Amino acid sequence: MTTHLAVAEQPAVLPQPRDLVASLPVYSKAGGTVPPSWRASSNESFRSPSPAVMAAITGAAAHCQRYPTLQGDPLVAALSDSLGVGAEQLVAGAGSLAVLQQLLTAFAGPGTEVVFAWRSYEAYPILVRLTGARDVQVPLAAGHRHDLPAMVAAITDATAAVILCSPNNPTGTVLGAAELEDILARIPSHVVVVLDQAYVEFTDDADASSRHSLALLAAHPNLVLLRTFSKAYSLAGLRAGYLVAHAELAAHVRAVSPPFGLNAVAEAAAVAALADGQALAANVSTVREGRASLHAALASRGMNVPASGGNFLWLPVGDGAASLEAACLGESVSVRSFAGEGVRVTVGSRDAEAAVLRAVDAWLVGGAA
Ligand SMILES: Cc1ncc(COP(=O)(O)O)c(C=O)c1O
Repeated sequence: MTTHLAVAEQPAVLPQPRDLVASLPVYSKAGGTVPPSWRASSNESFRSPSPAVMAAITGAAAHCQRYPTLQGDPLVAALSDSLGVGAEQLVAGAGSLAVLQQLLTAFAGPGTEVVFAWRSYEAYPILVRLTGARDVQVPLAAGHRHDLPAMVAAITDATAAVILCSPNNPTGTVLGAAELEDILARIPSHVVVVLDQAYVEFTDDADASSRHSLALLAAHPNLVLLRTFSKAYSLAGLRAGYLVAHAELAAHVRAVSPPFGLNAVAEAAAVAALADGQALAANVSTVREGRASLHAALASRGMNVPASGGNFLWLPVGDGAASLEAACLGESVSVRSFAGEGVRVTVGSRDAEAAVLRAVDAWLVGGAA
């Protein structure tokens, strides 16, 4: 039988967390009380891991009485081969969120600032404030794009890091090669520049983008690329991500990383997923096709949806966000709604995309408010 501490027995004064804990934004949950038929709210893959990846998961699970390696050595070795970078330039961890938190822990803290675009990935303000640093949010420019000149202008003596998100979650906009080179040239070399590439595999020129950003590391030792197995590799539930950076920066991040941070099953799955080029290609093409057809269908309904490089589309419906989310839930598809701003829809399932279109049609008929 479970026994709970009776209220009267609780000590009068409970331990209190640091003040900043009360200031942390809360990572939002997708709405709705009934489980939807389709989850288009978390930019997960609609495709399950491939048979080769499932076999690796089962194989690793059979040995989970053992600790994994301290720092994900087998995954680091596989990434080093596949990306053509030194193992010392890589840090692997339990999802790119965990790796970003370790990076910020190493480089930001009280008295420092971290600059990022807003709206962007909602975890940024949480992770930045957790370090004690101040988050400096630079509003997006026209077209839902990063306002790069304003981001550069926001850099002060206190700036420890700038986070760029490309494709940007939730707007999908992509920073071009020239834009990246230009902003890197303008950011002082003592400031860490994080390029969050969680969705890079879905961009139209993914291989070129990936190679270009890796090549930038040589000239910009303050650049950190952040990548994940959660999206294009269909492994969100297992938690595996990594960063690529100058060896010295990577060593500082490793110094603050928890030992055994990457579990053995996630690691085996990630190594197998990296080797399964066919599964990646199938996932990416499913997403690109769904993204193009949903984008065209929404445009034909008069909706101004920015072109997206991710596995999602941004519907900037402003105050209509809540009612559009409700209409989607009415069609049994969960989406991510940001009050007063818009709705983000994950693509990759033809059924979910059709359900979203039915919801949009009903919403438009109902006055879109
Ligand atoms: C831009 C961006 N970065 C990072 C993440 C976190 O990914 P992970 O699952 O690797 O922690 C997400 C997840 O949605 C994301 O959208």
